[in-house]
Amino acid sequence: MAVTISIGSGKGGTGKTMLLCNLALLLAKKGKKVCLVDLDIGGADAHLLFGLFEPKYSLTDFLTRRVESIADALHTFYSFNGLQLLPGTGSTLQTANMTYQEKQRLLKSISTLDADVVLIDVGAGTSYNSLDFFMCTDVQICVAMPEPTSIMDFYTFLQLATIRKVLDSFLSHSEVSLLLKKQNFSSLTDVFELAENTQEGAREKAQQALYGFNPLLVINRNISNGKVNKTKLKELVAKYLGIDIPLLGEIPEDQAVSEALRAYIPVCELSPDAPSSIALQNIADKIEKVIELFQNYSSQPDPIEKA
Ligand SMILES: Nc1ncnc2c1ncn2[C@@H]1O[C@H](COP(=O)(O)OP(=O)(O)OP(=O)(O)O)[C@@H](O)[C@H]1O
Ligand SMILES: [Mg+2]
Repeated sequence: MAVTISIGSGKGGTGKTMLLCNLALLLAKKGKKVCLVDLDIGGADAHLLFGLFEPKYSLTDFLTRRVESIADALHTFYSFNGLQLLPGTGSTLQTANMTYQEKQRLLKSISTLDADVVLIDVGAGTSYNSLDFFMCTDVQICVAMPEPTSIMDFYTFLQLATIRKVLDSFLSHSEVSLLLKKQNFSSLTDVFELAENTQEGAREKAQQALYGFNPLLVINRNISNGKVNKTKLKELVAKYLGIDIPLLGEIPEDQAVSEALRAYIPVCELSPDAPSSIALQNIADKIEKVIELFQNYSSQPDPIEKA
C-alpha cells in the first residue's frame, strides 16, 4: 500500500504546491512510483507547475462520477519520470460542499492507488475539508514562512487540526462526542477539560489520539536575517498542543523558484544547482527515508497472525 503524505498551511502562498511538485519529481527520479493528488479545492494549480494547461480529466470527473476511480483520471508525465497527477478542480458548489459520503469515496479511492507514495496538496486554510484531508494521511508536512504572521497562522492551523483529530477520536454517538461537537473550541486545553468533566478518563483518551501525530515543519522563503526561533516554536507547540514538530528542512528565498514557475518546469529540474533545489533535494532524501520506514513497518508480519 502507498505511503500517503499531505501538505498544509494556515494561510495561502507559503509554497506548498512548489514544495510538493518538486518533492514528487525528486522522488520519481529516485525510482519511486509517485502519485500527486491535488485536493486544493478552488486553488488547484499543481498541473500548471508541470506545464499541463488543459488536463483531460480532473477531480471534478471523479466527483461527478464521469470516472469511477481516481486511477482512471490520472495524468502520466512521461517526460517527468512517469510521475502521475490527479489534477484538481475549480471551486464549484459540489466540490466546496462535499458531503461526508463523497469525502469517504474520495479517500477510499486514494487508498487504492497503485503507487509507492501518494502526495496530497490540501490547499490552505482550516476548512473541514482541508483539515480532514490533511489529517487522513500517514505523514503530514506543514509549510510556514519565517515572518511572525505566518508562524501564527501555522500555529492556529495546527491547533485546529489537533482539535479536529481529538474530537474525531470519540465515537460519534458517545456522551463525550455529543457534548464536544456542540461546542466551538479554540483551545485544546478546553477540549481536554470538558471531555474529562463529562466522563472520567476521557482526557487520557483524547491525549492518546495525538500520539503519532508529529507534523514535519518546512520553513520556506527563508532569508539570512529572518531566522525563526525554532526551539521556542517547538516548545510552544509541545506545551500547548502536546505534540512534537520535527524540522524537515528550510528552503531559502530564491529567484530560481519564480523563474521555474514562469518556465512551467519544477525548479529542481530547471536549475538543479540553485540553493532552493539543493534544499529541496535534502528534504526529498529525508522523505525517502520516512517512506522506507513506513514500507518496512507495514511489510512486517502481523504479530497476531504470526502467533
Ligand atoms: N523559496 C522560494 N523563493 C522564491 N519564491 C518562492 C519560494 N517558494 C515559493 N515561492 C513563490 O511563492 C508563490 C506561492 O507559491 P505556491 O503556489 O507554491 O504556494 P502555495 O502555498 O501552494 O499557495 P496556495 O495556498 O495559494 O495554494 C509562487 O509565486 C512561488 O513562485
Ligand atoms: Mg498551492
